[in-house]
Amino acid sequence: MKRDFLTGAELSRDELLALLRRAGKLKSDPYASSALGKRTVALIFRRPSTRTRLSFEAGIAELGGHPMVLRADELQLSRGESLRDTAYVLSRHVAAIGMRTGPHEQLEELAEHASVPVINMLTAEHHPCQALADLLTLWEEFGSLEGLTLAYVGDGNNVARSLAIVGRLAGVTVRVASPPDYQLDPVADAVLLSDPREAVQDADIVYTDVWVSMSDDASTAQERRRVFAPYWLDDALLDLAAPHAIALHCLPAHPGEEITAEVLYGKRQRIWDQAENRRHAQKALLELLTGA
Ligand code: CP
Repeated sequence: MKRDFLTGAELSRDELLALLRRAGKLKSDPYASSALGKRTVALIFRRPSTRTRLSFEAGIAELGGHPMVLRADELQLSRGESLRDTAYVLSRHVAAIGMRTGPHEQLEELAEHASVPVINMLTAEHHPCQALADLLTLWEEFGSLEGLTLAYVGDGNNVARSLAIVGRLAGVTVRVASPPDYQLDPVADAVLLSDPREAVQDADIVYTDVWVSMSDDASTAQERRRVFAPYWLDDALLDLAAPHAIALHCLPAHPGEEITAEVLYGKRQRIWDQAENRRHAQKALLELLTGA
């Protein structure tokens, strides 16, 4: 029975912790595994990407596989071929399929018809591969995950939702502080707040993300910047967290908007480790899903 990774909720707690341990091992010895053994993994990008493409492409190569990057305009999908037929054809050639797209239902449709594992490389609703890398970063920093408190400030978006779902599995309390009209839906026991200072009080991690995502209507950007202004992550906000607190951001960042340059490039951030950890976490995920 093939396994997909669409929201992160597909993993058990034990699987998640084993995956993070395995990712740590692969980070210390990147060529230790040739789990993909010349097999191909298709990576469909219907939205732009820097980190996701880099980390999957490099990680698949490190596992001895062949990454096949497919941009939307290169596929017959762009001329109306269905996701169902695309899934049937891809499944005859590759060991797994990653897709980045807008509506989450499109990913579910691909997964329903593919006979190989399908991986969510970001949809408007979920970004679980990012959450795996985030937890790996916390595990490296704190040595364990159970009992940590992560405060996410800003838009209650796909990154926040995946942090809530995957963080809960690992015993991390996730607080999400957003303006009233931009709150995360009640999910996975996340603590939903509106005051960013209340959210970060004594937290171990303070996390933020862009205020205008790829899935958001560009015409709302000005209004979003006005509404989110009180949620920006600066040293003053970080000072309200625990003395050992670290700052995370899934990137791309807009210094001077949702985060100050002082935090983004400062001593308390682990943002660049977090970006690297995408590769290691996804390699462990590929091993798990492809049965290697
Ligand atoms: N964090 C993240 O997914 O980055 P990209 O959009 O560049 O892939």
